[in-house]
Order: sequence, then structure tokens, then C-alpha cells
Amino acid sequence: MTSSKTGNKRKLKEIREFRKQVLAWYDRHARILPWRSPPGQKPDPYHVWLSEIMLQQTTVGAVIPYFEKFLRKWPDIKALANAERQDVMSAWAGLGYYTRARNLHTCAKVVLEEMNGIFPEEEKALLALPGIGPYTAAAVSAIAFNKPTNVVDGNIERIMARYFAVTEPLPGIKKKLKAHALALSNKQSERPGDYAQALMDIGAGICTPRTPKCGICPIQAGCKGYNQGIAKDLPARAVKPLKPQRFGFLYWIQDKEGRVLLHRRPEKGLLGGTYGLPTSDWVDASERDNLEHLKHFQEIRFEGDDRKKIRHSFTHFDLELEVRRSAPVKSLKIGKDYFWHRTEDIGDFGFPSVFKKALKLNL
Ligand code: ADE
Repeated sequence: MTSSKTGNKRKLKEIREFRKQVLAWYDRHARILPWRSPPGQKPDPYHVWLSEIMLQQTTVGAVIPYFEKFLRKWPDIKALANAERQDVMSAWAGLGYYTRARNLHTCAKVVLEEMNGIFPEEEKALLALPGIGPYTAAAVSAIAFNKPTNVVDGNIERIMARYFAVTEPLPGIKKKLKAHALALSNKQSERPGDYAQALMDIGAGICTPRTPKCGICPIQAGCKGYNQGIAKDLPARAVKPLKPQRFGFLYWIQDKEGRVLLHRRPEKGLLGGTYGLPTSDWVDASERDNLEHLKHFQEIRFEGDDRKKIRHSFTHFDLELEVRRSAPVKSLKIGKDYFWHRTEDIGDFGFPSVFKKALKLNL
């Protein structure tokens, strides 16, 4: 046998060993999560898809109550597709990244109307659906349909960086980490859904970002990062620039009947399509002193000097909103996306967190 053949054989053996260790660990330690099916039972693709959309940029702990609420309200794809858009947006409130909720609803409609309510199994077909990117397509295809895709989320990237001791910083090494993950898949298609979720669980519980529990890790023996004593420092990250700070006004404007003015934000953009309190533009620190009130509000008399502030951190910037409270206004020329509403039940709109903070101030 040539040396390259023996090399390949050894590699294949290592890969088999790696996957065996991962799956054996999963059989004993898999997390019980509401979207997972019990061993031996097929998962429900609707549950898998819904959970994967919610888990984009959100932790398992934060997702569980939302996942359960959605299933209670809309137990299957048909129910969700037939729901009112606003009800879906309200149920999503607090989970953040609201484009996901809009895409979720649109996707449910497409699957119901164009695919008879049946999700496609292949990664490529899933990728064509609204709100499904490369990670989610691979995850749904593997977990719901047991297809041997290459699922790589942040947890799995971290495992790859450590296992192969990749010392250059993220995000430049993403492709390399994906290639490592693919090499470990290497046409080994045994239980692909379990394998992907096993790696996610190892990433979440053992190969954790700060203090990995290498002592109990099932893949410790082959982990180059562990063997070189550098696991906990990987993956390295390029130094992030500080988040910019933005400023704005948040308005609490009441009419003579005690109703409050609400605003539906435009479909496109941050918090798109959600309901909340009106705000001015949000400007950078350099323009703070020139911050102007919204055009329609320039005649309003704002009262009180106790200028309450709301601080909220978005992914790409921090926001500080200074509250402006009006004396009851008689009439107001307002745009079509503004409307008056009773104060008693404005909580029912399911405001995004930044506006929930304003409600907590009891304005
Ligand atoms: N993160 C993303 N998808 C997940 C899943 N299916 N299980 C656990 N964590 C996840």
C-alpha cells in the first residue's frame, strides 16, 4: 500500500473515531429541548424549522418559552400561515431581530401555499425560502430530515478552532473552520441530525467560550488545542471597534382623552413593522446638539425637566433616548403610521424591548 493510502486510511479512522465519540456522548448527555424528538422518533420539521429560526442570534434559554408559546398558538404550519401578521409580530416581541418574525410568517405561507404545507428536505430548496440562510438550511435538512449536511454554527466553529488549533482570529478563519467541519463529515452520514446537535451541545456545555471543561470532553484526546494547552484562548478574535452611540427623543404624547400616540415603524429597517412609541431620528454623537424634534411635533409644548432616559443596546450601536412628555394636545397633524390608542392596553401590542423599557418608566 502506498504511503498516501495509509495516510488516508488513518485519517478515515480518526474521523470515524471522532464521530463515534461525539454520538456516544450525545446518547448519554443530549439536552432535552422542546423541539427535539425522543430517541427513535422522527422530529417534526415544523418544530425544527421554528426553533432554528428562533435560535438564530438568540440563546436556547431565551428561545424555549417563545417556542412553547408559538406551538400553543399555532400548532402547525397551516395555523401559523393563516395567522394575522400582527399577531405573529406581537408574539415575537422581546425576542429581537424582528425581520425573522416577518420572514417566518412569509415562509409559512409559501410552504403552505406552494408546497402543500410540506417542508423541502434538501438544503438547496430550503435555502430558497424566506428567512433561511446557509446555516439554517443545513441545520433543518440534517435535524429534520437526517441529511448529511455540514452544519456549522458559532458553537461548532469554536470546537473546530480548538480541535484543530487554528490560531488566527475570527472572522477571517470562518471558511477554514467550515472546511475542517466538512472534513470530519467526510461522507460519514451516520445520524447526521444527532451529530450536528451533539456538537452544538458539546459547544454549549463543555467546549464553552471562557472556561472549557476539557476534563470531561469526549473529544479531548484528539484535540490539538487541548494538547497544546491553548484551547481556552481559541478562537482568537480580531479586536472589535467600539459600538457607536446614538441619541434620540422618545415621545409620550397624550390627547385630551388621555390616549397616547403610537407609531408603526416602516416594514424595512431596524424593528421593521413593529409598534412602539414615536421617536425622533436617531443621530450619531457628533450631531447630538443639533437633534431636532420630529416635524409634526415641533409645535408641541413638552413639560417637565426630569428628562428620563432609556438606554438600549442593538447589535451595531447603543441608543440613548431622552423622554419628552407633552401636556395633553388638542389636535395634531400626524402621518398615516401614527395613531391614538388607550393607555390601558398598549402592552398588548408586544412592543420591542426598547419601548417596553419606556412603559416601565410609568410615563
Ligand atoms: N442552536 C441552534 N440550533 C440548535 C439546536 N437544534 N439545538 C441546540 N442548540 C441549537
